[in-house]
Amino acid sequence: MTANFPIVRMRRTRQNEALRSMVRETHLQTSQLIYPLFIAEGLTQPEPIASMPGIVQWPLELLEQEAKRLVQLGIPAVLLFGIPAEKDAVGSQAYAEQGIIQQAIRLLKATVPELLVITDVCLCEYTDHGHCGVIHNGDVLNDESLELLARMAASHVEAGADIVAPSDMMDGRVGALRHVLDEQGYKQTPIMAYSAKFASAFYGPFREAAGSTPQFGDRRSYQMDPANAREALREVELDIREGADIVMVKPAMAYMDVIHRVRESCDLPLAVYNVSGEYSMIKAAAQQGWIDERRVIMEVLTGLRRAGADMIITYFAPEVAQWLKEA
Ligand code: PBG
Repeated sequence: MTANFPIVRMRRTRQNEALRSMVRETHLQTSQLIYPLFIAEGLTQPEPIASMPGIVQWPLELLEQEAKRLVQLGIPAVLLFGIPAEKDAVGSQAYAEQGIIQQAIRLLKATVPELLVITDVCLCEYTDHGHCGVIHNGDVLNDESLELLARMAASHVEAGADIVAPSDMMDGRVGALRHVLDEQGYKQTPIMAYSAKFASAFYGPFREAAGSTPQFGDRRSYQMDPANAREALREVELDIREGADIVMVKPAMAYMDVIHRVRESCDLPLAVYNVSGEYSMIKAAAQQGWIDERRVIMEVLTGLRRAGADMIITYFAPEVAQWLKEA
Protein backbone atom coordinates (compact mmCIF):
# COMPACT_ATOMS: atom_id res chain seq x y z
CA MET A 1 0.00 0.00 0.00
CA THR A 2 1.39 3.33 -0.95
CA ALA A 3 -0.02 6.66 0.05
CA ASN A 4 -0.64 7.82 -3.48
CA PHE A 5 -3.47 5.42 -4.38
CA PRO A 6 -6.37 7.51 -5.59
CA ILE A 7 -9.03 8.62 -3.15
CA VAL A 8 -11.38 9.54 -5.95
CA ARG A 9 -12.06 6.51 -8.13
CA MET A 10 -14.19 7.20 -11.18
CA ARG A 11 -14.48 3.47 -11.79
CA ARG A 12 -16.66 2.99 -8.68
CA THR A 13 -19.77 4.05 -10.59
CA ARG A 14 -18.84 2.13 -13.72
CA GLN A 15 -18.84 -1.33 -12.18
CA ASN A 16 -22.08 -2.67 -13.59
CA GLU A 17 -24.95 -1.63 -15.82
CA ALA A 18 -27.27 -0.75 -12.92
CA LEU A 19 -24.76 1.75 -11.57
CA ARG A 20 -23.87 3.05 -14.99
CA SER A 21 -27.49 3.65 -15.88
CA MET A 22 -28.06 5.50 -12.59
CA VAL A 23 -25.33 8.02 -13.34
CA ARG A 24 -26.13 8.32 -17.04
CA GLU A 25 -26.52 11.98 -17.97
CA THR A 26 -28.09 11.76 -21.41
CA HIS A 27 -31.00 9.73 -22.68
CA LEU A 28 -32.03 8.97 -26.21
CA GLN A 29 -35.72 8.24 -26.69
CA THR A 30 -37.87 7.41 -29.68
CA SER A 31 -40.05 10.43 -28.84
CA GLN A 32 -37.10 12.64 -29.86
CA LEU A 33 -36.79 11.22 -33.37
CA ILE A 34 -38.07 12.63 -36.67
CA TYR A 35 -37.92 10.48 -39.80
CA PRO A 36 -37.51 12.01 -43.28
CA LEU A 37 -39.71 10.56 -46.05
CA PHE A 38 -39.36 11.11 -49.80
CA ILE A 39 -42.57 10.90 -51.82
CA ALA A 40 -42.20 10.77 -55.58
CA GLU A 41 -44.91 11.45 -58.10
CA GLY A 42 -45.65 8.78 -60.69
CA LEU A 43 -44.05 5.83 -58.89
CA THR A 44 -45.80 2.51 -58.42
CA GLN A 45 -43.02 0.73 -56.50
CA PRO A 46 -40.64 2.04 -53.84
CA GLU A 47 -37.54 3.31 -55.63
CA PRO A 48 -34.30 2.54 -53.77
CA ILE A 49 -31.80 5.37 -53.40
CA ALA A 50 -28.45 3.83 -54.34
CA SER A 51 -26.36 6.14 -52.15
CA MET A 52 -28.61 5.66 -49.09
CA PRO A 53 -28.99 1.91 -48.42
CA GLY A 54 -32.34 1.22 -46.76
CA ILE A 55 -33.94 4.51 -47.86
CA VAL A 56 -36.40 4.72 -50.74
CA GLN A 57 -38.60 7.17 -52.60
CA TRP A 58 -42.19 6.24 -51.79
CA PRO A 59 -45.15 6.13 -54.13
CA LEU A 60 -48.25 7.79 -52.70
CA GLU A 61 -50.04 4.42 -52.65
CA LEU A 62 -47.63 2.88 -50.13
CA LEU A 63 -47.32 5.86 -47.83
CA GLU A 64 -50.10 4.87 -45.44
CA GLN A 65 -48.55 1.46 -44.84
CA GLU A 66 -45.12 2.99 -44.11
CA ALA A 67 -46.65 5.64 -41.83
CA LYS A 68 -48.43 2.93 -39.82
CA ARG A 69 -45.16 1.06 -39.40
CA LEU A 70 -43.54 4.24 -38.02
CA VAL A 71 -46.40 4.83 -35.58
CA GLN A 72 -46.09 1.21 -34.41
CA LEU A 73 -42.45 1.88 -33.67
CA GLY A 74 -43.40 4.93 -31.61
CA ILE A 75 -41.88 7.50 -33.98
CA PRO A 76 -43.82 10.72 -33.38
CA ALA A 77 -43.06 12.71 -36.52
CA VAL A 78 -42.02 12.61 -40.16
CA LEU A 79 -40.36 15.27 -42.31
CA LEU A 80 -41.76 15.18 -45.84
CA PHE A 81 -39.95 15.87 -49.11
CA GLY A 82 -41.84 15.85 -52.41
CA ILE A 83 -40.37 14.91 -55.76
CA PRO A 84 -42.68 16.22 -58.51
CA ALA A 85 -42.95 14.77 -62.01
CA GLU A 86 -42.67 18.25 -63.56
CA LYS A 87 -40.23 21.00 -62.64
CA ASP A 88 -40.10 24.58 -63.88
CA ALA A 89 -38.23 27.82 -63.24
CA VAL A 90 -40.51 28.95 -60.40
CA GLY A 91 -41.22 25.55 -58.79
CA SER A 92 -44.98 25.70 -59.48
CA GLN A 93 -45.56 22.18 -58.16
CA ALA A 94 -44.30 23.29 -54.74
CA TYR A 95 -47.52 25.24 -54.11
CA ALA A 96 -49.96 23.41 -56.41
CA GLU A 97 -53.13 22.23 -54.70
CA GLN A 98 -52.77 18.81 -56.33
CA GLY A 99 -48.98 18.71 -55.91
CA ILE A 100 -47.44 15.45 -54.74
CA ILE A 101 -46.61 16.82 -51.31
CA GLN A 102 -50.08 18.30 -50.77
CA GLN A 103 -51.60 14.91 -51.70
CA ALA A 104 -49.21 13.12 -49.33
CA ILE A 105 -50.08 15.45 -46.43
CA ARG A 106 -53.83 14.99 -46.95
CA LEU A 107 -53.44 11.23 -47.17
CA LEU A 108 -51.33 11.01 -44.01
CA LYS A 109 -53.60 13.24 -41.96
CA ALA A 110 -56.66 11.29 -43.13
CA THR A 111 -55.24 7.84 -42.45
CA VAL A 112 -52.66 8.23 -39.66
CA PRO A 113 -53.69 11.46 -37.90
CA GLU A 114 -51.57 10.82 -34.80
CA LEU A 115 -48.34 11.06 -36.81
CA LEU A 116 -47.01 14.64 -36.81
CA VAL A 117 -46.43 15.87 -40.32
CA ILE A 118 -43.56 18.32 -40.72
CA THR A 119 -42.90 19.58 -44.25
CA ASP A 120 -39.66 20.84 -45.74
CA VAL A 121 -40.30 24.22 -47.33
CA CYS A 122 -37.78 24.80 -50.10
CA LEU A 123 -37.98 25.16 -53.87
CA CYS A 124 -34.93 23.12 -54.93
CA GLU A 125 -36.80 19.85 -55.55
CA TYR A 126 -39.34 21.75 -57.66
CA THR A 127 -37.21 24.06 -59.80
CA ASP A 128 -35.64 22.90 -63.07
CA HIS A 129 -32.41 24.73 -62.14
CA GLY A 130 -32.28 23.04 -58.72
CA HIS A 131 -31.78 26.22 -56.67
CA CYS A 132 -33.77 27.02 -53.55
CA GLY A 133 -35.28 30.23 -54.93
CA VAL A 134 -36.05 31.99 -58.20
CA ILE A 135 -33.19 32.95 -60.52
CA HIS A 136 -32.49 36.16 -62.38
CA ASN A 137 -29.25 36.59 -64.35
CA GLY A 138 -27.70 33.66 -62.52
CA ASP A 139 -28.56 35.10 -59.10
CA VAL A 140 -30.95 33.57 -56.55
CA LEU A 141 -33.36 36.43 -55.81
CA ASN A 142 -34.17 36.78 -52.15
CA ASP A 143 -37.36 38.77 -51.73
CA GLU A 144 -39.08 37.38 -54.83
CA SER A 145 -38.40 33.86 -53.51
CA LEU A 146 -39.95 34.70 -50.13
CA GLU A 147 -43.34 35.15 -51.72
CA LEU A 148 -43.23 31.69 -53.29
CA LEU A 149 -41.89 30.04 -50.14
CA ALA A 150 -44.67 31.56 -48.06
CA ARG A 151 -47.20 30.38 -50.62
CA MET A 152 -45.68 26.90 -50.45
CA ALA A 153 -45.85 26.82 -46.65
CA ALA A 154 -49.46 28.00 -46.63
CA SER A 155 -50.44 25.31 -49.14
CA HIS A 156 -48.84 22.66 -46.89
CA VAL A 157 -50.74 23.89 -43.86
CA GLU A 158 -53.95 24.11 -45.83
CA ALA A 159 -53.45 20.45 -46.78
CA GLY A 160 -53.02 19.62 -43.09
CA ALA A 161 -49.31 19.93 -42.23
CA ASP A 162 -48.70 20.23 -38.47
CA ILE A 163 -45.36 22.07 -38.68
CA VAL A 164 -43.55 23.80 -41.54
CA ALA A 165 -39.77 23.74 -41.80
CA PRO A 166 -38.19 26.34 -44.13
CA SER A 167 -34.79 25.09 -45.36
CA ASP A 168 -34.07 27.52 -48.17
CA MET A 169 -31.87 30.01 -46.24
CA MET A 170 -33.31 33.14 -47.85
CA ASP A 171 -33.15 36.15 -45.55
CA GLY A 172 -36.43 36.91 -43.84
CA ARG A 173 -38.18 33.66 -44.71
CA VAL A 174 -39.33 32.86 -41.19
CA GLY A 175 -40.98 36.26 -40.88
CA ALA A 176 -42.50 35.96 -44.35
CA LEU A 177 -43.95 32.53 -43.55
CA ARG A 178 -45.27 33.67 -40.17
CA HIS A 179 -46.94 36.68 -41.71
CA VAL A 180 -48.73 34.71 -44.43
CA LEU A 181 -49.70 31.86 -42.11
CA ASP A 182 -51.17 34.29 -39.59
CA GLU A 183 -52.99 36.19 -42.31
CA GLN A 184 -54.59 32.98 -43.54
CA GLY A 185 -55.71 32.01 -40.06
CA TYR A 186 -52.99 29.47 -39.27
CA LYS A 187 -51.78 31.26 -36.16
CA GLN A 188 -51.26 28.02 -34.27
CA THR A 189 -48.96 26.34 -36.79
CA PRO A 190 -45.37 26.19 -35.50
CA ILE A 191 -42.35 26.99 -37.67
CA MET A 192 -39.27 24.80 -37.33
CA ALA A 193 -36.53 26.93 -38.87
CA TYR A 194 -33.43 25.44 -40.47
CA SER A 195 -31.63 28.34 -38.82
CA ALA A 196 -27.97 27.36 -39.07
CA LYS A 197 -27.88 25.42 -42.31
CA PHE A 198 -24.38 25.07 -43.70
CA ALA A 199 -23.33 24.71 -47.36
CA SER A 200 -22.27 21.12 -46.79
CA ALA A 201 -20.84 18.29 -48.89
CA PHE A 202 -22.73 15.95 -46.53
CA TYR A 203 -25.94 16.64 -48.50
CA GLY A 204 -24.57 14.69 -51.49
CA PRO A 205 -26.74 11.55 -51.20
CA PHE A 206 -29.87 13.63 -50.47
CA ARG A 207 -29.54 15.38 -53.79
CA GLU A 208 -29.78 11.97 -55.48
CA ALA A 209 -32.74 11.08 -53.24
CA ALA A 210 -34.60 14.32 -53.96
CA GLY A 211 -33.29 15.03 -57.45
CA SER A 212 -32.31 18.52 -56.32
CA THR A 213 -28.71 19.04 -57.46
CA PRO A 214 -28.19 22.64 -58.63
CA GLN A 215 -27.75 22.70 -62.41
CA PHE A 216 -25.19 25.50 -62.18
CA GLY A 217 -23.11 26.94 -59.35
CA ASP A 218 -23.63 25.94 -55.74
CA ARG A 219 -25.55 27.05 -52.66
CA ARG A 220 -22.82 29.10 -51.02
CA SER A 221 -24.53 32.43 -51.66
CA TYR A 222 -27.37 31.43 -49.33
CA GLN A 223 -26.29 28.50 -47.11
CA MET A 224 -23.70 29.18 -44.42
CA ASP A 225 -19.91 28.86 -44.60
CA PRO A 226 -18.92 25.74 -42.59
CA ALA A 227 -16.18 27.83 -40.95
CA ASN A 228 -18.61 30.10 -39.08
CA ALA A 229 -20.07 29.52 -35.62
CA ARG A 230 -20.69 33.09 -34.41
CA GLU A 231 -22.67 33.69 -37.58
CA ALA A 232 -24.78 30.63 -36.74
CA LEU A 233 -25.80 32.31 -33.50
CA ARG A 234 -26.86 35.41 -35.45
CA GLU A 235 -28.95 33.27 -37.80
CA VAL A 236 -30.64 31.66 -34.80
CA GLU A 237 -31.26 35.03 -33.16
CA LEU A 238 -32.81 36.43 -36.34
CA ASP A 239 -35.10 33.43 -36.78
CA ILE A 240 -36.25 33.76 -33.18
CA ARG A 241 -37.03 37.44 -33.73
CA GLU A 242 -38.99 36.54 -36.86
CA GLY A 243 -41.11 34.07 -34.91
CA ALA A 244 -39.45 30.65 -35.12
CA ASP A 245 -40.81 28.12 -32.62
CA ILE A 246 -38.05 25.54 -33.04
CA VAL A 247 -34.55 26.23 -34.36
CA MET A 248 -32.24 23.82 -36.15
CA VAL A 249 -28.58 23.13 -36.78
CA LYS A 250 -27.69 21.15 -39.90
CA PRO A 251 -25.67 19.01 -40.58
CA ALA A 252 -25.04 17.50 -37.13
CA MET A 253 -21.87 15.48 -36.67
CA ALA A 254 -19.30 18.02 -37.88
CA TYR A 255 -21.21 20.83 -36.08
CA MET A 256 -21.41 19.62 -32.48
CA ASP A 257 -19.84 22.86 -31.25
CA VAL A 258 -22.52 24.87 -33.05
CA ILE A 259 -25.23 22.69 -31.50
CA HIS A 260 -23.71 23.26 -28.08
CA ARG A 261 -23.38 27.01 -28.56
CA VAL A 262 -26.94 27.39 -29.82
CA ARG A 263 -28.15 25.35 -26.84
CA GLU A 264 -26.27 27.67 -24.47
CA SER A 265 -27.40 30.87 -26.15
CA CYS A 266 -31.16 30.33 -26.47
CA ASP A 267 -34.04 28.57 -24.76
CA LEU A 268 -35.98 27.43 -27.81
CA PRO A 269 -36.42 23.75 -28.60
CA LEU A 270 -33.44 22.72 -30.72
CA ALA A 271 -33.58 20.24 -33.59
CA VAL A 272 -30.52 18.85 -35.35
CA TYR A 273 -30.46 17.17 -38.76
CA ASN A 274 -28.29 14.07 -38.99
CA VAL A 275 -28.05 14.38 -42.79
CA SER A 276 -27.81 11.98 -45.71
CA GLY A 277 -24.01 11.90 -45.99
CA GLU A 278 -23.69 11.16 -42.28
CA TYR A 279 -26.11 8.28 -42.73
CA SER A 280 -24.42 6.89 -45.83
CA MET A 281 -20.91 6.98 -44.32
CA ILE A 282 -22.02 4.85 -41.40
CA LYS A 283 -23.96 2.47 -43.63
CA ALA A 284 -21.00 2.06 -45.99
CA ALA A 285 -18.52 1.34 -43.20
CA ALA A 286 -20.95 -1.09 -41.58
CA GLN A 287 -21.50 -2.92 -44.89
CA GLN A 288 -17.73 -3.37 -45.08
CA GLY A 289 -17.73 -4.81 -41.59
CA TRP A 290 -15.44 -2.04 -40.42
CA ILE A 291 -17.63 -0.72 -37.59
CA ASP A 292 -20.34 -2.06 -35.30
CA GLU A 293 -23.32 -0.32 -36.93
CA ARG A 294 -25.67 -0.39 -33.98
CA ARG A 295 -23.14 0.87 -31.45
CA VAL A 296 -21.88 3.61 -33.76
CA ILE A 297 -25.40 4.88 -34.51
CA MET A 298 -26.36 4.94 -30.84
CA GLU A 299 -23.11 6.70 -29.96
CA VAL A 300 -23.63 9.38 -32.63
CA LEU A 301 -27.25 10.09 -31.69
CA THR A 302 -26.46 10.10 -27.96
CA GLY A 303 -23.61 12.50 -28.73
CA LEU A 304 -26.02 14.85 -30.50
CA ARG A 305 -28.31 14.78 -27.46
CA ARG A 306 -25.33 15.43 -25.18
CA ALA A 307 -24.32 18.40 -27.34
CA GLY A 308 -27.78 19.88 -26.73
CA ALA A 309 -30.25 18.57 -29.31
CA ASP A 310 -33.83 18.16 -28.10
CA MET A 311 -34.90 16.36 -31.26
CA ILE A 312 -33.00 14.60 -34.02
CA ILE A 313 -34.01 14.30 -37.65
CA THR A 314 -32.43 11.05 -38.76
CA TYR A 315 -32.70 8.35 -41.42
CA PHE A 316 -31.79 5.89 -38.65
CA ALA A 317 -35.08 6.56 -36.79
CA PRO A 318 -36.83 3.21 -37.49
CA GLU A 319 -33.76 1.12 -36.61
CA VAL A 320 -33.13 3.10 -33.45
CA ALA A 321 -36.79 2.93 -32.41
CA GLN A 322 -36.66 -0.83 -32.81
CA TRP A 323 -33.48 -1.10 -30.71
CA LEU A 324 -34.90 1.16 -28.00
CA LYS A 325 -37.98 -1.11 -27.88
CA GLU A 326 -35.84 -4.18 -27.40
CA ALA A 327 -33.64 -2.56 -24.73
C1 PBG B 1 -33.51 21.36 -49.28
C2 PBG B 1 -32.87 20.42 -48.33
C3 PBG B 1 -31.64 19.75 -48.43
C4 PBG B 1 -31.57 18.89 -47.33
C5 PBG B 1 -32.73 19.09 -46.58
N1 PBG B 1 -33.50 20.05 -47.21
C6 PBG B 1 -30.61 19.77 -49.48
C7 PBG B 1 -29.82 20.96 -49.76
O1 PBG B 1 -29.93 22.00 -49.13
O2 PBG B 1 -29.03 20.87 -50.71
C8 PBG B 1 -30.46 17.92 -47.02
C9 PBG B 1 -30.83 16.75 -46.19
C10 PBG B 1 -29.84 15.63 -46.17
O3 PBG B 1 -28.73 15.71 -46.72
O4 PBG B 1 -30.18 14.60 -45.58
N2 PBG B 1 -32.89 22.56 -49.45
